[in-house]
Parts: sequence; C-alpha cells; structure tokens
Amino acid sequence: MEIAERLTKIPPYLFMELRKKIGAARAAGVDVISLAIGDPVEATPKSVIDELCRTAYDPENHRYPTDEEKGMLAFRQEAARWYDRRYGVALDPATEILGLIGSKEGCHHFILARINPGDVVLMTDPGYPAYRASILMGGGEPWNVPILAKNDYLPDFADIPTDIAKKARGMFLNYPNNPTGACATKKFLNDLVVFAKDYDIAICYDNPYSEILFAGQERISFLMAPGAKDVGVELNSLSKPFNMCGWRLGMACGNPDLIAAISKVKENTDSGIFNPIQFAGIQALKNEEAFIEGMTALYGRRRELVLATLKKIGIDFAPPRGTFYLWVPVPKGMTSLEFTNRLFDRTAIVVAAGTAYGKYGEGYIRISLTLPDDRLAEAMARIEKEFAP
Ligand SMILES: Cc1ncc(COP(=O)(O)O)c(C=O)c1O
Repeated sequence: MEIAERLTKIPPYLFMELRKKIGAARAAGVDVISLAIGDPVEATPKSVIDELCRTAYDPENHRYPTDEEKGMLAFRQEAARWYDRRYGVALDPATEILGLIGSKEGCHHFILARINPGDVVLMTDPGYPAYRASILMGGGEPWNVPILAKNDYLPDFADIPTDIAKKARGMFLNYPNNPTGACATKKFLNDLVVFAKDYDIAICYDNPYSEILFAGQERISFLMAPGAKDVGVELNSLSKPFNMCGWRLGMACGNPDLIAAISKVKENTDSGIFNPIQFAGIQALKNEEAFIEGMTALYGRRRELVLATLKKIGIDFAPPRGTFYLWVPVPKGMTSLEFTNRLFDRTAIVVAAGTAYGKYGEGYIRISLTLPDDRLAEAMARIEKEFAP
C-alpha cells in the first residue's frame, strides 16, 4: 500500500528505533540498561490513582467527555489555580486554557491551527524530534536555529536571517530544554516576545519540564513575560512532574485566538479526554506538590552519581539546571555515534546520541535519570570499569 508523501519526509521516531534495538539485545539474553528514554519508573501518586478509580465507576463518566474539545471546566480551573500559584500567571479558564492529551498533541495541533502549507516554522537544533514531524505533517517547512553551549543553549535571534524571520509563522521552544537541560532566563523570554511581535511569529512554548529543576533554579513560564499572551501559547503536561506519562494529560495556555483554533482542531480530531483522567489530574494539581519535591530530590541524587562517575572517567562539566536529562560531552576524538555504539557494544548501556536531536547535537550524548537507582548504579559501575583511565 502506498502511503502519503508527507509521511515519507519524517524520519523513524528515535525511541521506536531504540526500543527495537533494546528488544533484540534482550531477546538474545543481554542485560541491557537503557539511559535513553525519559519516562519515570516510579508510580503516579496514590491519591491520583484512587481518584481515577473512584470516578471511573460513575456511568456519567463513561459518556463523551464533558466540554469535549476544551477539557472539563473544573480541570481548566484547577490548571488556572496551578499557574497562578506556581508561576504567578493569571489565566482565564474559559478562554485561555485547553485540556490536551499530553503536550505532544499540542505541538501537532498548534501547527494545524496556525501554519499554512509552505510556511516556515522555526525550531531549535538540537531539539525535540516531534517538532519536525509535526511541522512536516502540517505541510510547513522546518528551519533550524542552532543552540550552542556558548550561548547557554538559548537561540541567538541575531543569527536568524531576516528573510527567514519574515517568512516564519511559528516557532517551537522548550526550556527547561530537552535534550540540553538548559533553562530560559526572564530576559531571554522578554526578547522572545519582542522578536515574535516584530515578525508576527506565533510561539509554541513547550514547557513539560517546568517543574523538574535543580540547584535553586527558579520556575519559569513563558507566560510570565509581559506580552507573551499576545504572541503564543505555552504547553504543559502532567507527564513529568507527576509520573503520569502514560495517562496522557496536559494543557495549552495563553493566547485566546490560538486556544480557540487548537480547540477547533481537537473538536474535529478527537472527542476530548476521559473524564476520570481529568478528575485525577485535578487531584494531582491540587494536592500533590510535595510529590514533585520528592521526585526532584531523587533525580538530584542520581544526577550527582552520574556526574561523579563521568568525572572519574575524565568527563567534567557543569550541567544546566533543568530536566531529568544530562547532555554529556563525549570523550575527545570520538563522535556521538562512536561513543554511543561503544557504550552499547562494551557495556550494554543504551544512551541517545546527540545527533538524534539535530546536527548541532554532534559531540554529545543524552543520559536520562528516569530508571531505578540500582540499575543506574549498575550502569555507572559498568561505565567506570570500561572507561577508567
Ligand atoms: C520537549 C518535550 N515535549 C513534549 C513531550 C511529550 O510530553 P507529553 O507526555 O506531555 O505528551 C516530551 C516528552 O518527552 C518532551 O521531551
């Protein structure tokens, strides 16, 4: 069967490929440890699971979800309270918030809501691979903005050629950043709003790691920048802060015209989020802030262990302070892929090669901290043994 041309432009999804590689090695009896995928292994908070179970028994909730495409008003109201408490951002639940099946869905719908065929959409290199796929599926033209260590992995707007900026209709950004872990500054966000206004570029600020922070890093939302709501939306998610990746729950917040447009896409695509998941989400947002503290403390300890091990094998660097990833420079004289392959072949450890996130990812690998402590300790012992000077 011939498939649509738009799909032929999209490379295979990195993690599907990695899963296949891991599956094949495990089937051959190898004890593979994956440090590649960012998917917390610890359980969702019990109170959240209880709320799902309680509400799942109510036949009212077996019908199409309440307020279908927008998400339940009660969920949107709780998200508004969360944004107010955590970021000092005021949002109108009626017009400025929309429930999502995770922030990944929001990336795709943002493109359908804003981009016409042939429009340029800016994204960063390295960057989250799903942006490119969403842009291409929507008929847009991705344009990569390099993000480099010397600029703390923030785009330099002066590097974007004026003719490209004039053609661009949208831009994806994501800080705390996957894969680099970099965080935005308030100054950067202010400059972003000015850049977006100057060129009429709609911003899709994808912020699912907004709560995963270390070493005194302050929580930052794009919507804290004056004028941000005029130029874009922020996507957020319950996946990472509450270990709810599999539940598929998030939200888009900000510009009411974009929210209405994304809502129209949803109205014609899916029929909303299962009510009990939204009730469970309310419970998480309302009562589980302490859970996030516990998880970030755990990631913080794992981070220290990995950094100490890397130091022992001669990789010494000061990582940025966000996300549960470490963006690690590879040893001198090796490419990302060579180091990744050597790790796999000699230690059965899987990491993501930096080049999977774009050509400026060359020279790095990404290590995820979302695996059980004992497995991480085992992985570090293997690395130390293999690469000890
Ligand atoms: C930058 C970025 N955006 C979005 C997502 C997807 O999040 P969600 O589970 O909310 O769809 C991820 C997941 O890894 C991510 O890294």
